[in-house]
Amino acid sequence: MNGSMSRRQFLSLAAAILAGPNALDASTGRVVDAGPVSTYGPEGVYDRFRDQGFFVIRNGKRLLALSAFCTHRKCKLAAQPDRSFYCPCHGSTFDPNGKVTAGPAKRDLPLFPVVVNESGHLLVELPGR
Ligand code: FES
Repeated sequence: MNGSMSRRQFLSLAAAILAGPNALDASTGRVVDAGPVSTYGPEGVYDRFRDQGFFVIRNGKRLLALSAFCTHRKCKLAAQPDRSFYCPCHGSTFDPNGKVTAGPAKRDLPLFPVVVNESGHLLVELPGR
């Protein structure tokens, strides 16, 4: 239930963005403009938004936003050359799809909703705090 509600909210936020730059209250900080999708051409993991809490992943034609915070105690993850993720705090690992491959983390990494706006920018919805 929560998933569909948050998707509805996200779509209305995206609609607000499409309506114009003044239509979104940027102080909410829930939607991040991750820049032009053209900057995510090659396959792989992009970590330029790691400090804001997500990785952008180009997987074929799909662009995904995966949480950059470990599901154990929220340490920031490090993207590995094989596209998996490693937590430096207690050693949890996650596969390229965010599934736990070693604990102590027990929960997979969440994916965040994304849309492309009419300017060709990737918008990522982050969860509220
Ligand atoms: S915070 Fe990542 S393994 Fe503990």
